[in-house]
Amino acid sequence: MAAKVFTVENRKGGVGKTTTAVTLAVGLARRLHDDGGGNVLVIDMDPQGDAARGLGLNPNGRCVSNVLLSDGNVDILRDNVISADRGDDGGPSRSNLYVLPASDKLSEAKEDILTEFALLAARSMRSRRGGNEAHLVDILDEKLGLAKQAFAYIIVDCPPTLDLLQQAVHQYADYAIVPVKVDFHGASATGRHTSNILQDQAEGIDITIAAIVPTFVNARHNLTKSMMRELTRVYGKQVIAMPVPNTVRVAEAPASGGRTVLEYMPDSPAAIAYQDLVDRLYAQG
Ligand SMILES: Nc1ncnc2c1ncn2[C@@H]1O[C@H](COP(=O)(O)OP(=O)(O)OP(=O)(O)O)[C@@H](O)[C@H]1O
Ligand SMILES: [Mg+2]
Repeated sequence: MAAKVFTVENRKGGVGKTTTAVTLAVGLARRLHDDGGGNVLVIDMDPQGDAARGLGLNPNGRCVSNVLLSDGNVDILRDNVISADRGDDGGPSRSNLYVLPASDKLSEAKEDILTEFALLAARSMRSRRGGNEAHLVDILDEKLGLAKQAFAYIIVDCPPTLDLLQQAVHQYADYAIVPVKVDFHGASATGRHTSNILQDQAEGIDITIAAIVPTFVNARHNLTKSMMRELTRVYGKQVIAMPVPNTVRVAEAPASGGRTVLEYMPDSPAAIAYQDLVDRLYAQG
């Protein structure tokens, strides 16, 4: 069965995308492990490379750009994926979690990747009789299609930008998860982002918002209550995830041996909120 692919995205920086992506990945991997199988892959599409770091991993030259510049070769995919299992060196045991990391190489390679995309798109347009529009998704599927066969879930940690590559990622994925920093600026940026997703949907791109995750939430602020009401009014109660509190526990976790809050402080309110998101998405299959 093909992987279920989630992007974690929001064009605003610092809203908790990477934190949400890696925490969700750890949670889904555990649920699969407890149920007897299935692997999870985190794909980092942000040259900042925070996803691997957040899990305490060193990419050592491995980078998603190597895969994007390849022709879907299984060895290149395998060579660039790292196991997130750190049970042997005293870290968290994550036997079924893997990361395709990013590094500076991704920004250097982006131009080449986009040129190649444009060439492939032009070729596929010529080869399709009737002049069908080339779909970027076919191109990304060629590069990352094998990953879809090998994993049960793929979580893509996105950069806070939207360019052609990001649009291709959008099309490669089935569902978007949108963390929203619950402050005034956070809400307006997400409004723009989600309206873009809605516009993409109108243009035939198949992406559904699986969850809007309120992050950095200070329950006592009046602003919080009105923003939560507004999010619920605009997006509907079903997609709004349990709010993740603004807490130093979340920020401390990666610095405490590359852990997520689920591993670092499993009983904390932030871990409970993320576990709730994991369970909800897992229950949807
Ligand atoms: N709920 C939270 N409470 C407190 N700090 C948090 C919370 N969530 C994330 N952080 C911290 O805020 C910082 C930004 O989070 P994160 O890197 O996940 O955001 P991002 O959206 O991925 O940023 P970028 O747009 O730069 O990729 C990190 O230092 C992280 O540890
Ligand atoms: Mg990030």
